[in-house]
Amino acid sequence: MLSENSVKEISELTSKYATKRSAIMPALSVVQREHGYVTEEGMRDVARILGVRPVLVFEVATFYTMYNKKPVGKYHIQVCTNIACSLLGAEHLMDFLSRRLGIKTKETTSDKKFTLSAVECLGSCGTAPMMQINDNYYENLTESKVEEILNGLR
Ligand code: FES
Repeated sequence: MLSENSVKEISELTSKYATKRSAIMPALSVVQREHGYVTEEGMRDVARILGVRPVLVFEVATFYTMYNKKPVGKYHIQVCTNIACSLLGAEHLMDFLSRRLGIKTKETTSDKKFTLSAVECLGSCGTAPMMQINDNYYENLTESKVEEILNGLR
């Protein structure tokens, strides 16, 4: 169940966009901010509040990788494995992270601290390879930089 504040925030989005459909993405972000992922109930709430068909909300939530479809750890590490990052060693960094965290892609550590995901281009190709952790970008990554970042989060 969404909080009163989230319901209010989503309701107010309708006046900021030309169509109700355009408000689906920011509305899903509100749900994710509150629950850490887009719950099925949250998607239905978005549809109800915006007055759109639920299938439209489900389509958007499942298409974009930035919406988590299940709970994630405190730190969600999303490594871009698209072309520029890939050419500069993204897969190697994924293997490194996987070994350091003891989890595979799409898994969460048993202490619920880290979730590891491979994602499509995050629009930071000029500073590849890169990853996003929660709302922050980490760029021009090397194994030692990743190690330093992980140590800062532990
Ligand atoms: S290819 Fe990685 S940010 Fe674009």
